[in-house]
Amino acid sequence: MIDYLGDQTKNKAAHELPAYNLDTIKKQVLDWVSTNTDFLDDKTSKGFWMKIDYKDLARSCPALIEYFKYVRIPVQEITVGVLTEAMTDGFVMHHGSPGKNFKINFPILNTEDVHTEWYDIPDDDLKKFPELLNVYTQQQCYDLSSIHKTVDTLYPLRVSYNMHHCPIVFNSYLPHRVMPGADAKYPRIMLATMPLKDPFDLMQL
Ligand SMILES: [Fe+2]
Repeated sequence: MIDYLGDQTKNKAAHELPAYNLDTIKKQVLDWVSTNTDFLDDKTSKGFWMKIDYKDLARSCPALIEYFKYVRIPVQEITVGVLTEAMTDGFVMHHGSPGKNFKINFPILNTEDVHTEWYDIPDDDLKKFPELLNVYTQQQCYDLSSIHKTVDTLYPLRVSYNMHHCPIVFNSYLPHRVMPGADAKYPRIMLATMPLKDPFDLMQL
C-alpha cells in the first residue's frame, strides 16, 4: 500500500488562501507565459503539466514572491497546468505521489466552470489498482485512469471545487480529476507551486 500520510479523511481537500494580490499575479504570470511559451495557442496537448523555467518565471513575477512572503509559505518549485480544448473529457483521475503532498495552486486564465473533484476511495480499493511510476517525482502511485469516466458512479464525491477567485492549498494525495463543464473556455491555465514543507496546519478539518 502506498501510504505516506496516513488517514486523509482528517485533512481538507482544499483550503482557500487570501486573494491579496491575485490580479497582479495573474497579469505577471500571463505576460510571462505569452512571452516565453506557446501555451495560449496550444489546442492539442493532453499532458496537462508543462515544464517551465520556473526560476525565470519567479524573477518575472515579483507579485508571486510577495504573495509567498505574505502567507509565509516558502515554495521550492513552480509548474503550469494547461487544460487544452483537446481535453474536454478532463484531466485524468490520479493522485499525488510521495515527496510533496500539498500544492498551492493559483487560478490564472479561463478558470470558470472547471472543477476539481476529489473522491473518497477506500485504501483496500486503492490497493487493487496497478502501480505507476510518477515521471515527475520518480515515485510509485496508483494508476486510476481506468475509472476516470466512471468514478462518480463508484465512489462518494468528497468535494467539487471551482478554483477561480483565490489561490488554494490543494491536497493532491486524495484521488482527484479535473473536469471542465459545458461553459469552460480553453486553454484553462493554473499555476501550481510546491511548498518546502507540507502546510498540515492549514489542512485540518
Ligand atoms: Fe493533481
